[in-house]
Amino acid sequence: MSTSLSVITESPSSLDADAVVVGYHSGANGPEPASGAHDVDAAFSGGLASTLSLLGARGALEEVRTVPTLGALRAPVVVAVGLGELPAEGDEISSDTLARAAGAALRACEGKSRVVLALPAASAESAGAVALGALLGAYGFDRYRTSEEPVQRAETLLLASSAEGADAAARRATALAESVNLARDLVNTAPADLTPEDLAHAAEEVAREWGLDVETLGEQALADGGYGGILGVGQGSANPPRLVRLAYSHPEARRTVAFVGKGITFDSGGLSLKPAASMDWMKSDMGGAAAVLSALRAVAELKPAVNVVGYLAIAENMPSGTAQRPSDVLTMYGGKTVEVLNTDAEGRLVMADALVRAHEDGPDLIVDVATLTGAQLVALGTRVFAVMANDDEVREQVVAAAAEAGEAAWPMPLPEELRKGLDSSVADIANVAGERWGGMLSAGVFLKEFIAEGVRWAHLDIAGPAFNQGGPYGYTPKGGTGSATRTLVRIAEAYAEN
Ligand code: BES
Ligand code: MN
Ligand code: ZN
Repeated sequence: MSTSLSVITESPSSLDADAVVVGYHSGANGPEPASGAHDVDAAFSGGLASTLSLLGARGALEEVRTVPTLGALRAPVVVAVGLGELPAEGDEISSDTLARAAGAALRACEGKSRVVLALPAASAESAGAVALGALLGAYGFDRYRTSEEPVQRAETLLLASSAEGADAAARRATALAESVNLARDLVNTAPADLTPEDLAHAAEEVAREWGLDVETLGEQALADGGYGGILGVGQGSANPPRLVRLAYSHPEARRTVAFVGKGITFDSGGLSLKPAASMDWMKSDMGGAAAVLSALRAVAELKPAVNVVGYLAIAENMPSGTAQRPSDVLTMYGGKTVEVLNTDAEGRLVMADALVRAHEDGPDLIVDVATLTGAQLVALGTRVFAVMANDDEVREQVVAAAAEAGEAAWPMPLPEELRKGLDSSVADIANVAGERWGGMLSAGVFLKEFIAEGVRWAHLDIAGPAFNQGGPYGYTPKGGTGSATRTLVRIAEAYAEN
């Protein structure tokens, strides 16, 4: 069940709730209540700062202290969250800070069903950031839990804000958060319960609910169409592959953007089998497809004036008697041949088919999203995804869209000289390079071969950011994160605006 959020203008201290969330800064003389907390502070007879101080609070961002109200408020506890240093006179607290703090606070609200948010929300932008962070922080995944303990942190959120536009900002935040949480659910689902067919059904269900056009190509249609990449990767699995096409259209659209997501429901590596350690991570290998589906869902709700097409390239990469072999040659959609030297470099094979197909929609921009390489983690770590493109301006646009969406992204090059390493002795191209340096970039260079001259294209490698192996932080839970969903939505909006 998802968390509901509404904007209220009443004084937070008088509300019936299980907790009131307030913020505080780290001041020169200890914690200082942030705007939004004054009401609660007054109910504490001005003692909020000293109470927090007694609890060892400093005001560092995401630091949380739970304070019993002992009857001072209707709610039994105040959940106070650090917001870092007080911004300089006239400066606003950044949206990112507010979202992270709200997320951390909600993670500390386990078992509380009705939560009031009295964080700084004097502008629509701030209200939206608080709403987004809280809804993302309240996420829990309980599909496989048999105990009654709640994993979702709140059912009802009441956001205190009298800012003009707070309602609209909260609605937008809700659309984004529900979409991101959908992507998280899909990533967290065990791969046995999310076969290619299941993922395609999930997409069809979203399409039905949100009025998107949807078309699924099954095994036979893929064979008839010549989708050699998707079929080659999928042929070792008992669960056959799919290619899903989703479409959102707007009557006033002047542009079309196409999103393509990697949907490997489980990546064992195939015959080039992965080592056992951390193979479980590979249930997240459909994180790109999840982001594309979720972005389409959000776009259908937010309705920007742009056409958006989404492709989900779905297969399960398994070793078996029917699996493709290292040295097999695939004929991809569109006719190019690929020598498969390593069956674990499967993402680029399914993506290439879908990228070629996406050209048929005549897009002004193609953006693909994939948990493509371990090298992405080596280069940028677990939280920052990479942006590559065949055009400098497009790359900058996408990096900017990520920043506006509140996601960490960094530009990366596609060095020309890496193409030579992909030369095959028998086919048009090989799926892996002879040398291992720049593995993320050579995967990008491989994909670029499937983009026609003059077509604007960007490639996001989200291998690390799609799945949080470490502890939760800010509004990010352990497990599936929904990475890139918000960036894709922002790109669609940017293409609607200009
Ligand atoms: N799905 C993996 C990439 C990955 C690794 C995602 C770690 C998330 C965490 C991808 O299919 C893969 O196996 N890539 C290989 C490519 C190599 C064989 C050229 C890799 O990065 O090791
Ligand atoms: Mn792989
Ligand atoms: Zn993979």
